[in-house]
Amino acid sequence: MDNPTILIVDSGIGGLSVTQEIQLKLPRSQLIYLADNGAFPYGIQEESTLVERLLHLIPPLEQHHTPDLIVIACNTASTVVLPPLRRVARAPVIGVVPAIKPAAELSKNHKLAVLATPGTISRSYTRQLIQQFASHCEVSLLGSSELVQQAENKLRGLPVDLAVVTKALAPLLLDHCQVDTLVLGCTHFPLLKQEIEHILPRHIQVIDSGEAIARRAVELVRERPERNRPRDVNRFLFSAESHQAHALEAGIKHWGFSHIQFLCKSATEFTQKSGESK
Ligand code: DGL
Repeated sequence: MDNPTILIVDSGIGGLSVTQEIQLKLPRSQLIYLADNGAFPYGIQEESTLVERLLHLIPPLEQHHTPDLIVIACNTASTVVLPPLRRVARAPVIGVVPAIKPAAELSKNHKLAVLATPGTISRSYTRQLIQQFASHCEVSLLGSSELVQQAENKLRGLPVDLAVVTKALAPLLLDHCQVDTLVLGCTHFPLLKQEIEHILPRHIQVIDSGEAIARRAVELVRERPERNRPRDVNRFLFSAESHQAHALEAGIKHWGFSHIQFLCKSATEFTQKSGESK
């Protein structure tokens, strides 16, 4: 099918970098985007918190919107939630993996860096990826939650603080640093690619996973049976209502989401509801 309904999930607006690639390849798809802003940022959350929240949030949305595909457009969540989610979801589930494999292939001197959230950097999932695809490379791991916030600020129309970007990239700016390939292992970071490339030395190439996950999405929806349903608007759902979320509305509409909805009045309401349903 070429007009699938796709549920895209992230902690915030990072998944828009993946959305953009999906829209390019599947322009007739209807998108339901869930930003779990009630637990933002995911990069500092415990694994069990992420799994619990996503298993609480996604199944009712799947039941309501019956997507043809679920995309976890978040590296941090993908490191922990894919197996348990696949056990309960009816639609196929795909996640984002830091582009370590292509980076290892592209790097000329086998010196890579991965810039991701502290969560992604510390997970065994990331270490396994490195062992599997880049064991012949020297890999520096850089964690930053501050950059995630900068990407959110940018969509709110606030200026990006280049000092924060510089701090996150500091090890790559040292004279003796030989890294020639940087992996953006967080979906928020491609939204700051311009700023990142502006600060990095020219010889460092920057890669992310957006196009790869969109390609996988196309393969999977092609296998899905045709469904005759009327085209609906793209919907953007926040898990919790907040001032920060409202400040994102104009930016989100600009990305083609005409309908914005808040699932809970606040993050506290979410915690109460999920407590009740246990
Ligand atoms: N965009 C997410 C990722 O790819 C999560 C960022 C965060 O909430 O910490 O890891």
